[in-house]
Amino acid sequence: MLRGQISKIRGIDVLWLIFLGGLALLSPVREVHKQVTLLAIALVQIFEPRLIAHLPRRGPSYSVLLKIALSSLLIAHTGGAVSINSSYYPIYYLPVITAAIYFGPLGTLLWTALASAAYCSYLIPALQEYELTSSGKVELAIRILFFFFAAILVNQFVMESRRRLKESQALSETLAESNRQLKLAQEEARRSERLAALGQLSAGLAHEIRNPLGVIKGSAEMLTQKLQGNTPLAQELAGYISSEVNRLNALVARFLDFARPSRLQLQPVSPAALVDRALESVQAQFPAAGITVERRYAEGLPEIMADERLCEQVFINLICNAYEAMNGAGGKVSVAIAPAEGESVPGVAVEIRDSGPGVPADLRQQIFNPFFTSKETGVGLGLSIVAKIVDDHRGSIQLKSRPDEGACFHVFLPVKPN
Ligand SMILES: Nc1ncnc2c1ncn2[C@@H]1O[C@H](COP(=O)(O)OP(=O)(O)OP(=O)(O)O)[C@@H](O)[C@H]1O
Ligand SMILES: [Mg+2]
Repeated sequence: MLRGQISKIRGIDVLWLIFLGGLALLSPVREVHKQVTLLAIALVQIFEPRLIAHLPRRGPSYSVLLKIALSSLLIAHTGGAVSINSSYYPIYYLPVITAAIYFGPLGTLLWTALASAAYCSYLIPALQEYELTSSGKVELAIRILFFFFAAILVNQFVMESRRRLKESQALSETLAESNRQLKLAQEEARRSERLAALGQLSAGLAHEIRNPLGVIKGSAEMLTQKLQGNTPLAQELAGYISSEVNRLNALVARFLDFARPSRLQLQPVSPAALVDRALESVQAQFPAAGITVERRYAEGLPEIMADERLCEQVFINLICNAYEAMNGAGGKVSVAIAPAEGESVPGVAVEIRDSGPGVPADLRQQIFNPFFTSKETGVGLGLSIVAKIVDDHRGSIQLKSRPDEGACFHVFLPVKPN
Protein backbone atom coordinates (compact mmCIF):
# COMPACT_ATOMS: atom_id res chain seq x y z
CA MET A 1 0.00 0.00 0.00
CA LEU A 2 2.89 2.33 0.86
CA ARG A 3 4.46 1.53 -2.50
CA GLY A 4 1.16 2.38 -4.14
CA GLN A 5 1.07 5.72 -2.34
CA ILE A 6 4.60 6.59 -3.38
CA SER A 7 3.92 5.81 -7.02
CA LYS A 8 0.68 7.86 -6.83
CA ILE A 9 2.52 10.86 -5.41
CA ARG A 10 5.19 10.54 -8.08
CA GLY A 11 2.56 10.51 -10.80
CA ILE A 12 1.06 13.70 -9.42
CA ASP A 13 4.51 15.27 -9.10
CA VAL A 14 5.18 14.53 -12.76
CA LEU A 15 1.87 16.21 -13.65
CA TRP A 16 2.84 19.28 -11.63
CA LEU A 17 6.15 19.46 -13.47
CA ILE A 18 4.42 19.14 -16.85
CA PHE A 19 1.90 21.91 -16.11
CA LEU A 20 4.44 24.27 -14.59
CA GLY A 21 6.81 23.42 -17.48
CA GLY A 22 3.98 24.44 -19.83
CA LEU A 23 3.78 27.82 -18.05
CA ALA A 24 7.57 28.14 -18.33
CA LEU A 25 7.35 27.72 -22.13
CA LEU A 26 4.84 30.57 -22.46
CA SER A 27 5.96 34.15 -22.70
CA PRO A 28 7.86 35.79 -21.18
CA VAL A 29 10.23 32.87 -21.79
CA ARG A 30 13.49 34.73 -21.27
CA GLU A 31 12.49 36.13 -17.86
CA VAL A 32 14.83 34.22 -15.50
CA HIS A 33 12.99 35.33 -12.35
CA LYS A 34 9.75 33.91 -13.69
CA GLN A 35 11.36 30.54 -14.47
CA VAL A 36 13.07 30.38 -11.07
CA THR A 37 9.77 31.26 -9.34
CA LEU A 38 7.95 28.53 -11.30
CA LEU A 39 10.65 26.07 -10.30
CA ALA A 40 10.28 27.16 -6.65
CA ILE A 41 6.48 26.69 -6.90
CA ALA A 42 7.02 23.19 -8.31
CA LEU A 43 9.40 22.33 -5.46
CA VAL A 44 6.99 23.66 -2.81
CA GLN A 45 4.20 21.64 -4.37
CA ILE A 46 6.25 18.45 -4.54
CA PHE A 47 7.66 18.74 -1.01
CA GLU A 48 4.45 19.97 0.61
CA PRO A 49 3.28 16.50 1.81
CA ARG A 50 6.66 15.95 3.50
CA LEU A 51 6.59 19.40 5.10
CA ILE A 52 3.11 18.75 6.50
CA ALA A 53 4.03 15.26 7.69
CA HIS A 54 7.00 16.82 9.50
CA LEU A 55 5.13 19.85 10.92
CA PRO A 56 1.48 18.77 11.08
CA ARG A 57 0.34 21.93 12.91
CA ARG A 58 2.29 24.74 11.28
CA GLY A 59 3.13 23.06 7.96
CA PRO A 60 -0.12 24.04 6.17
CA SER A 61 0.30 27.73 7.18
CA TYR A 62 3.93 27.75 5.98
CA SER A 63 2.95 26.13 2.72
CA VAL A 64 0.09 28.60 2.00
CA LEU A 65 2.28 31.55 3.00
CA LEU A 66 5.11 30.40 0.71
CA LYS A 67 2.69 29.92 -2.16
CA ILE A 68 1.21 33.42 -1.69
CA ALA A 69 4.74 34.87 -1.70
CA LEU A 70 5.80 32.88 -4.80
CA SER A 71 2.51 33.70 -6.61
CA SER A 72 3.13 37.40 -5.92
CA LEU A 73 6.68 37.08 -7.24
CA LEU A 74 5.40 35.39 -10.40
CA ILE A 75 2.92 38.24 -10.95
CA ALA A 76 5.71 40.78 -10.41
CA HIS A 77 7.82 39.17 -13.14
CA THR A 78 5.14 38.44 -15.71
CA GLY A 79 3.01 41.60 -15.83
CA GLY A 80 5.46 43.82 -17.71
CA ALA A 81 5.12 47.45 -16.63
CA VAL A 82 1.84 46.85 -14.73
CA SER A 83 2.14 43.67 -12.64
CA ILE A 84 -1.54 43.56 -11.74
CA ASN A 85 -2.37 43.03 -15.42
CA SER A 86 -0.37 39.77 -15.50
CA SER A 87 -2.20 36.91 -17.19
CA TYR A 88 -0.65 34.64 -14.58
CA TYR A 89 -2.95 35.96 -11.84
CA PRO A 90 -4.83 32.57 -11.57
CA ILE A 91 -1.62 31.30 -9.90
CA TYR A 92 -3.27 32.66 -6.71
CA TYR A 93 -5.71 29.74 -6.95
CA LEU A 94 -2.80 27.63 -5.79
CA PRO A 95 -2.53 29.11 -2.23
CA VAL A 96 -6.30 29.62 -2.07
CA ILE A 97 -7.12 25.98 -2.85
CA THR A 98 -4.30 24.73 -0.63
CA ALA A 99 -5.84 26.70 2.26
CA ALA A 100 -9.28 25.28 1.42
CA ILE A 101 -7.82 21.78 1.63
CA TYR A 102 -6.05 22.16 4.95
CA PHE A 103 -8.17 24.66 6.92
CA GLY A 104 -11.76 25.06 8.09
CA PRO A 105 -14.18 27.56 6.49
CA LEU A 106 -12.95 30.55 8.53
CA GLY A 107 -9.27 29.78 7.95
CA THR A 108 -9.96 29.35 4.23
CA LEU A 109 -11.68 32.77 4.06
CA LEU A 110 -8.82 34.47 5.93
CA TRP A 111 -6.12 32.93 3.74
CA THR A 112 -8.11 33.80 0.59
CA ALA A 113 -8.44 37.38 1.86
CA LEU A 114 -4.65 37.48 2.39
CA ALA A 115 -3.98 36.11 -1.11
CA SER A 116 -6.43 38.69 -2.57
CA ALA A 117 -4.72 41.45 -0.57
CA ALA A 118 -1.32 40.32 -1.89
CA TYR A 119 -2.70 40.50 -5.42
CA CYS A 120 -4.37 43.91 -4.84
CA SER A 121 -1.13 45.28 -3.37
CA TYR A 122 0.07 45.63 -7.00
CA LEU A 123 -2.57 48.33 -7.40
CA ILE A 124 -0.44 50.70 -5.34
CA PRO A 125 2.47 51.06 -7.83
CA ALA A 126 0.02 50.90 -10.78
CA LEU A 127 -2.13 53.76 -9.42
CA GLN A 128 0.89 56.01 -9.26
CA GLU A 129 1.11 56.04 -13.03
CA TYR A 130 -2.34 55.01 -14.23
CA GLU A 131 -5.91 55.55 -13.25
CA LEU A 132 -8.21 52.66 -12.34
CA THR A 133 -11.11 52.65 -14.82
CA SER A 134 -14.51 51.36 -13.82
CA SER A 135 -14.15 48.32 -16.13
CA GLY A 136 -10.77 47.71 -14.49
CA LYS A 137 -12.46 47.77 -11.07
CA VAL A 138 -15.11 45.29 -12.25
CA GLU A 139 -12.44 43.01 -13.72
CA LEU A 140 -10.46 43.06 -10.46
CA ALA A 141 -13.57 42.41 -8.37
CA ILE A 142 -14.54 39.47 -10.61
CA ARG A 143 -11.06 37.95 -10.27
CA ILE A 144 -11.10 38.28 -6.50
CA LEU A 145 -14.65 37.00 -6.14
CA PHE A 146 -13.64 33.93 -8.16
CA PHE A 147 -10.79 33.32 -5.69
CA PHE A 148 -13.37 33.19 -2.91
CA PHE A 149 -15.77 31.16 -5.01
CA ALA A 150 -13.16 28.46 -5.68
CA ALA A 151 -12.00 28.51 -2.04
CA ILE A 152 -15.48 27.97 -0.62
CA LEU A 153 -16.38 25.32 -3.15
CA VAL A 154 -13.26 23.26 -2.47
CA ASN A 155 -13.55 23.80 1.28
CA GLN A 156 -17.15 22.61 1.26
CA PHE A 157 -16.11 19.46 -0.54
CA VAL A 158 -13.17 18.87 1.81
CA MET A 159 -15.30 19.41 4.95
CA GLU A 160 -17.87 16.96 3.64
CA SER A 161 -15.27 14.29 2.96
CA ARG A 162 -13.69 14.90 6.39
CA ARG A 163 -17.13 14.38 7.97
CA ARG A 164 -17.59 11.16 5.99
CA LEU A 165 -14.14 9.99 7.03
CA LYS A 166 -14.97 10.63 10.69
CA GLU A 167 -18.24 8.77 10.29
CA SER A 168 -16.58 5.78 8.71
CA GLN A 169 -13.86 5.82 11.38
CA ALA A 170 -16.56 5.80 14.09
CA LEU A 171 -18.32 3.01 12.22
CA SER A 172 -15.18 0.94 11.95
CA GLU A 173 -14.53 1.46 15.67
CA THR A 174 -18.05 0.21 16.43
CA LEU A 175 -17.44 -2.71 14.11
CA ALA A 176 -14.17 -3.52 15.82
CA GLU A 177 -15.91 -3.39 19.20
CA SER A 178 -18.73 -5.67 17.98
CA ASN A 179 -16.10 -8.03 16.59
CA ARG A 180 -14.40 -8.11 19.96
CA GLN A 181 -17.73 -8.82 21.67
CA LEU A 182 -18.46 -11.54 19.15
CA LYS A 183 -15.11 -13.18 19.83
CA LEU A 184 -15.78 -13.06 23.57
CA ALA A 185 -19.23 -14.56 23.01
CA GLN A 186 -17.72 -17.30 20.85
CA GLU A 187 -15.17 -18.09 23.51
CA GLU A 188 -17.93 -18.15 26.11
CA ALA A 189 -20.00 -20.45 23.88
CA ARG A 190 -17.05 -22.81 23.45
CA ARG A 191 -16.52 -22.83 27.21
CA SER A 192 -20.21 -23.55 27.76
CA GLU A 193 -20.06 -26.37 25.21
CA ARG A 194 -17.15 -27.92 27.06
CA LEU A 195 -18.95 -27.48 30.37
CA ALA A 196 -22.14 -28.95 28.91
CA ALA A 197 -20.22 -31.99 27.69
CA LEU A 198 -18.63 -32.33 31.11
CA GLY A 199 -22.06 -31.90 32.70
CA GLN A 200 -23.54 -34.68 30.58
CA LEU A 201 -20.68 -36.96 31.42
CA SER A 202 -20.96 -36.27 35.15
CA ALA A 203 -24.74 -36.59 35.05
CA GLY A 204 -24.31 -40.04 33.50
CA LEU A 205 -21.76 -40.88 36.15
CA ALA A 206 -23.98 -39.61 38.96
CA HIS A 207 -26.85 -41.67 37.63
CA GLU A 208 -24.69 -44.79 37.58
CA ILE A 209 -23.49 -44.11 41.12
CA ARG A 210 -27.06 -44.23 42.38
CA ASN A 211 -27.53 -47.95 41.75
CA PRO A 212 -24.52 -49.20 43.70
CA LEU A 213 -25.42 -46.69 46.40
CA GLY A 214 -28.85 -48.28 46.65
CA VAL A 215 -27.25 -51.71 46.98
CA ILE A 216 -24.81 -50.46 49.66
CA LYS A 217 -27.62 -48.82 51.59
CA GLY A 218 -29.83 -51.91 51.38
CA SER A 219 -26.96 -54.15 52.49
CA ALA A 220 -26.08 -51.81 55.38
CA GLU A 221 -29.68 -51.86 56.55
CA MET A 222 -29.81 -55.65 56.37
CA LEU A 223 -26.57 -55.82 58.32
CA THR A 224 -28.01 -53.54 61.01
CA GLN A 225 -31.02 -55.82 61.31
CA LYS A 226 -28.93 -58.99 61.38
CA LEU A 227 -26.46 -57.66 63.91
CA GLN A 228 -29.09 -56.33 66.27
CA GLY A 229 -27.80 -56.52 69.83
CA ASN A 230 -24.83 -58.73 68.91
CA THR A 231 -21.89 -56.47 68.17
CA PRO A 232 -22.52 -52.83 68.96
CA LEU A 233 -19.39 -51.69 67.07
CA ALA A 234 -20.43 -53.43 63.85
CA GLN A 235 -23.90 -52.01 64.25
CA GLU A 236 -22.51 -48.52 64.71
CA LEU A 237 -20.35 -48.91 61.62
CA ALA A 238 -23.30 -50.15 59.59
CA GLY A 239 -25.20 -47.06 60.81
CA TYR A 240 -22.39 -44.84 59.50
CA ILE A 241 -22.50 -46.56 56.15
CA SER A 242 -26.22 -46.03 55.96
CA SER A 243 -26.16 -42.34 56.96
CA GLU A 244 -23.21 -41.53 54.66
CA VAL A 245 -24.94 -43.28 51.80
CA ASN A 246 -27.97 -41.10 52.51
CA ARG A 247 -25.77 -38.03 52.30
CA LEU A 248 -24.24 -39.21 49.03
CA ASN A 249 -27.68 -39.96 47.64
CA ALA A 250 -28.89 -36.47 48.51
CA LEU A 251 -25.81 -34.99 46.87
CA VAL A 252 -26.27 -37.03 43.71
CA ALA A 253 -29.98 -36.11 43.60
CA ARG A 254 -29.07 -32.44 43.96
CA PHE A 255 -26.48 -32.69 41.24
CA LEU A 256 -28.90 -34.44 38.91
CA ASP A 257 -31.40 -31.67 39.59
CA PHE A 258 -28.83 -29.26 38.26
CA ALA A 259 -27.55 -31.30 35.35
CA ARG A 260 -30.78 -32.74 34.00
CA PRO A 261 -32.37 -30.71 31.19
CA SER A 262 -35.53 -29.52 32.87
CA ARG A 263 -38.92 -30.00 31.34
CA LEU A 264 -41.13 -27.30 32.82
CA GLN A 265 -44.62 -28.28 33.85
CA LEU A 266 -46.21 -24.88 33.65
CA GLN A 267 -49.36 -24.07 35.57
CA PRO A 268 -50.86 -20.92 37.08
CA VAL A 269 -49.14 -20.33 40.40
CA SER A 270 -49.62 -17.70 43.09
CA PRO A 271 -46.18 -16.26 43.81
CA ALA A 272 -47.13 -15.37 47.41
CA ALA A 273 -48.30 -18.93 48.17
CA LEU A 274 -45.11 -20.28 46.56
CA VAL A 275 -42.84 -18.08 48.68
CA ASP A 276 -44.87 -18.85 51.84
CA ARG A 277 -44.42 -22.58 51.28
CA ALA A 278 -40.68 -22.12 50.76
CA LEU A 279 -40.46 -20.05 53.96
CA GLU A 280 -42.28 -22.72 55.96
CA SER A 281 -40.12 -25.49 54.58
CA VAL A 282 -36.89 -23.64 55.51
CA GLN A 283 -38.25 -22.68 58.93
CA ALA A 284 -38.90 -26.35 59.54
CA GLN A 285 -35.28 -27.12 58.62
CA PHE A 286 -33.91 -24.51 61.05
CA PRO A 287 -36.36 -24.64 63.99
CA ALA A 288 -33.96 -22.98 66.44
CA ALA A 289 -32.53 -20.30 64.15
CA GLY A 290 -34.17 -17.37 66.00
CA ILE A 291 -34.86 -15.50 62.79
CA THR A 292 -37.76 -13.08 62.28
CA VAL A 293 -39.36 -13.11 58.89
CA GLU A 294 -40.81 -9.93 57.43
CA ARG A 295 -43.22 -10.26 54.52
CA ARG A 296 -44.06 -7.33 52.23
CA TYR A 297 -46.39 -8.58 49.53
CA ALA A 298 -48.03 -6.10 47.17
CA GLU A 299 -51.81 -6.19 46.72
CA GLY A 300 -53.33 -7.84 43.65
CA LEU A 301 -50.28 -9.84 42.59
CA PRO A 302 -50.85 -11.64 39.28
CA GLU A 303 -50.58 -15.41 39.04
CA ILE A 304 -47.61 -16.58 37.01
CA MET A 305 -47.25 -19.52 34.68
CA ALA A 306 -44.49 -21.53 36.32
CA ASP A 307 -43.34 -24.98 37.33
CA GLU A 308 -44.47 -24.99 40.94
CA ARG A 309 -42.01 -27.56 42.24
CA LEU A 310 -38.99 -25.95 40.57
CA CYS A 311 -39.92 -22.39 41.58
CA GLU A 312 -40.43 -23.50 45.16
CA GLN A 313 -36.92 -24.94 44.95
CA VAL A 314 -35.66 -21.50 43.84
CA PHE A 315 -37.04 -19.79 46.93
CA ILE A 316 -36.09 -22.64 49.27
CA ASN A 317 -32.47 -22.37 48.10
CA LEU A 318 -32.39 -18.58 48.46
CA ILE A 319 -34.07 -18.54 51.88
CA CYS A 320 -31.90 -21.44 53.00
CA ASN A 321 -28.80 -19.41 52.07
CA ALA A 322 -30.20 -16.44 53.98
CA TYR A 323 -30.71 -18.59 57.09
CA GLU A 324 -27.27 -20.15 56.73
CA ALA A 325 -25.70 -16.69 56.31
CA MET A 326 -26.94 -15.75 59.78
CA ASN A 327 -25.19 -18.84 61.12
CA GLY A 328 -27.54 -19.49 64.04
CA ALA A 329 -26.92 -16.03 65.47
CA GLY A 330 -30.47 -14.85 64.78
CA GLY A 331 -31.45 -11.98 62.51
CA LYS A 332 -34.03 -10.96 59.99
CA VAL A 333 -35.11 -12.15 56.57
CA SER A 334 -37.34 -9.79 54.56
CA VAL A 335 -39.24 -11.04 51.60
CA ALA A 336 -40.93 -8.57 49.27
CA ILE A 337 -43.09 -9.44 46.26
CA ALA A 338 -44.32 -6.85 43.78
CA PRO A 339 -45.54 -6.74 40.18
CA ALA A 340 -42.69 -5.76 37.85
CA GLU A 341 -41.65 -5.34 34.22
CA GLY A 342 -38.55 -7.12 32.92
CA GLU A 343 -37.49 -6.10 29.37
CA SER A 344 -41.08 -4.89 28.83
CA VAL A 345 -42.52 -8.29 29.83
CA PRO A 346 -44.94 -8.25 32.78
CA GLY A 347 -44.08 -10.41 35.75
CA VAL A 348 -43.35 -10.40 39.48
CA ALA A 349 -40.23 -9.41 41.36
CA VAL A 350 -39.33 -11.28 44.52
CA GLU A 351 -36.67 -9.78 46.76
CA ILE A 352 -35.06 -11.81 49.55
CA ARG A 353 -32.93 -9.76 51.89
CA ASP A 354 -31.13 -10.97 55.02
CA SER A 355 -29.28 -9.29 57.85
CA GLY A 356 -26.24 -11.56 57.52
CA PRO A 357 -22.69 -10.51 56.59
CA GLY A 358 -23.46 -10.18 52.85
CA VAL A 359 -21.42 -11.39 49.88
CA PRO A 360 -17.84 -10.04 49.80
CA ALA A 361 -16.92 -8.06 46.65
CA ASP A 362 -14.40 -10.67 45.47
CA LEU A 363 -16.96 -13.50 45.58
CA ARG A 364 -19.76 -11.72 43.71
CA GLN A 365 -18.67 -13.03 40.30
CA GLN A 366 -18.38 -16.61 41.50
CA ILE A 367 -21.40 -17.35 43.65
CA PHE A 368 -23.53 -18.48 40.68
CA ASN A 369 -20.82 -20.90 39.45
CA PRO A 370 -21.52 -24.58 40.08
CA PHE A 371 -19.61 -26.00 43.03
CA PHE A 372 -18.59 -22.63 44.37
CA THR A 373 -19.12 -22.60 48.11
CA SER A 374 -17.65 -20.77 51.06
CA LYS A 375 -19.30 -23.11 53.55
CA GLU A 376 -17.61 -26.09 55.12
CA THR A 377 -20.50 -28.40 54.43
CA GLY A 378 -21.80 -26.64 51.33
CA VAL A 379 -21.91 -28.21 47.89
CA GLY A 380 -22.10 -24.96 45.95
CA LEU A 381 -25.03 -25.98 43.76
CA GLY A 382 -27.85 -23.98 45.42
CA LEU A 383 -27.48 -20.76 43.43
CA SER A 384 -26.54 -22.59 40.20
CA ILE A 385 -29.82 -24.51 40.43
CA VAL A 386 -31.66 -21.24 41.18
CA ALA A 387 -30.08 -19.52 38.16
CA LYS A 388 -30.85 -22.47 35.90
CA ILE A 389 -34.51 -22.67 36.93
CA VAL A 390 -34.96 -18.91 36.65
CA ASP A 391 -33.33 -18.97 33.19
CA ASP A 392 -35.61 -21.82 32.10
CA HIS A 393 -38.55 -19.60 33.10
CA ARG A 394 -37.07 -16.70 31.03
CA GLY A 395 -36.63 -14.73 34.24
CA SER A 396 -33.58 -13.15 35.81
CA ILE A 397 -31.73 -13.15 39.10
CA GLN A 398 -29.37 -10.53 40.48
CA LEU A 399 -27.46 -9.97 43.66
CA LYS A 400 -28.53 -6.41 44.40
CA SER A 401 -26.87 -5.68 47.72
CA ARG A 402 -23.55 -3.89 48.28
CA PRO A 403 -20.69 -5.95 49.76
CA ASP A 404 -21.00 -4.11 53.10
CA GLU A 405 -24.63 -5.04 53.77
CA GLY A 406 -26.70 -8.20 54.16
CA ALA A 407 -27.31 -10.09 50.92
CA CYS A 408 -30.31 -9.17 48.78
CA PHE A 409 -31.29 -11.38 45.85
CA HIS A 410 -33.74 -10.05 43.29
CA VAL A 411 -35.65 -12.62 41.23
CA PHE A 412 -37.85 -11.65 38.30
CA LEU A 413 -40.30 -14.22 36.93
CA PRO A 414 -42.44 -13.33 33.92
CA VAL A 415 -46.18 -13.92 34.01
CA LYS A 416 -45.78 -16.10 30.92
CA PRO A 417 -42.44 -17.63 29.99
CA ASN A 418 -42.50 -17.87 26.17
N1 LIG B 1 -27.53 -14.86 51.62
C1 LIG B 1 -26.22 -14.98 51.48
N2 LIG B 1 -25.36 -14.28 52.25
C2 LIG B 1 -24.03 -14.41 52.11
N3 LIG B 1 -23.44 -15.22 51.21
C3 LIG B 1 -24.23 -15.94 50.39
C4 LIG B 1 -25.66 -15.85 50.48
N4 LIG B 1 -26.17 -16.68 49.54
C5 LIG B 1 -25.12 -17.24 48.91
N5 LIG B 1 -23.95 -16.83 49.41
C6 LIG B 1 -22.62 -17.20 48.99
O1 LIG B 1 -22.71 -17.90 47.77
C7 LIG B 1 -22.12 -19.18 47.86
C8 LIG B 1 -22.83 -20.14 46.94
O2 LIG B 1 -24.14 -20.37 47.38
P1 LIG B 1 -24.87 -21.68 46.95
O3 LIG B 1 -26.24 -21.68 47.50
O4 LIG B 1 -24.71 -21.86 45.48
O5 LIG B 1 -23.98 -22.82 47.59
P2 LIG B 1 -23.90 -23.21 49.12
O6 LIG B 1 -25.01 -22.60 49.87
O7 LIG B 1 -22.53 -22.93 49.57
O8 LIG B 1 -24.08 -24.77 49.02
P3 LIG B 1 -25.44 -25.54 48.70
O9 LIG B 1 -25.18 -26.27 47.43
O10 LIG B 1 -25.66 -26.43 49.84
O11 LIG B 1 -26.51 -24.53 48.54
C9 LIG B 1 -22.24 -19.52 49.32
O12 LIG B 1 -21.28 -20.49 49.70
C10 LIG B 1 -21.98 -18.15 49.97
O13 LIG B 1 -20.62 -17.87 50.00
MG1 LIG C 1 -26.99 -22.73 49.28
